[in-house]
Amino acid sequence: QEQLKQIENAIVGLLKNEVGPIIKTKAHEKSKYVNKSNAVDLVTETDKQIEVLIKEKLGALYPDFKFIGEESYQPGVTKISDEPTFIVDPIDGTTNFIHDFPFSCCSIGLSINQEAVVGAVYNPHLGQLFHGSKGNGAFLNDTKIVIAERPLKLQQSVIGFEGGAERQGSNFEVKMSTLKNLLDAQKGFAHGFRSLGSAAMNMCYTALGTYDAYWEGGCYAWDVCAGWCILKETGGMVVGGNVNEWEIPLDRRCYFAIRGGSSEDEQKKFVQEFWNQVPA
Ligand code: IPD
Repeated sequence: QEQLKQIENAIVGLLKNEVGPIIKTKAHEKSKYVNKSNAVDLVTETDKQIEVLIKEKLGALYPDFKFIGEESYQPGVTKISDEPTFIVDPIDGTTNFIHDFPFSCCSIGLSINQEAVVGAVYNPHLGQLFHGSKGNGAFLNDTKIVIAERPLKLQQSVIGFEGGAERQGSNFEVKMSTLKNLLDAQKGFAHGFRSLGSAAMNMCYTALGTYDAYWEGGCYAWDVCAGWCILKETGGMVVGGNVNEWEIPLDRRCYFAIRGGSSEDEQKKFVQEFWNQVPA
């Protein structure tokens, strides 16, 4: 537990002092970008530059730990093992970064035995640094995150949702139908949806209890690893985005995060009600 706290502190220092200033300055320059898998999956030179920096700095501190980063990931080759592994998204919310919308952040998680045990997410535009580690609680800057007890009901919820980079095919259709069902006055009737454009920020806003839940299919472990640890430390849970997926691995790519501040029974009931709105 103490060692995890030390690692958390090292990551926090790196984000605050080195990574944050780069994101903040470069976003205002309205960065040039190139397309990755398609015309809405974007990357900039700054994403790559920051990933190299983090790999070098964490590698010097923890030479035995493995490293997985969004920009050096090789599909089919890169796999999360049981060994301590830093799982990093150098800029999450790259589209926000390119458009200078103030919700781009850096997300650094550590997994051990495929469980997220340390996490830090820094949005330098708003000065929000979320961090936590297993058994040590979660913090927004220096303040411990404590979620007040309050009812968790689908009908009165605000849910984080993202269009993602996949904009056609059956997954996209399911996403859109679910969104419609949840808003429909005769079905889910949620209070509303929000889209921050960053999976990591969505996870952290669920950890804060600002969101009641966050649902996404299509993102990767580096988008959610850090936020997952932070959320768990505030009493939240992460399950699969599809029906009856109560236990999921870090790289499931379809996640449903639920806030704390309610009993496990209430959280599970909320999940069931949500799943009822997801077309088979
Ligand atoms: C993306 C963001 C976005 C989510 C996508 C991610 P990136 O990450 O988190 O909110 O919808 O699935 O790929 O590309 O900005 O690092």
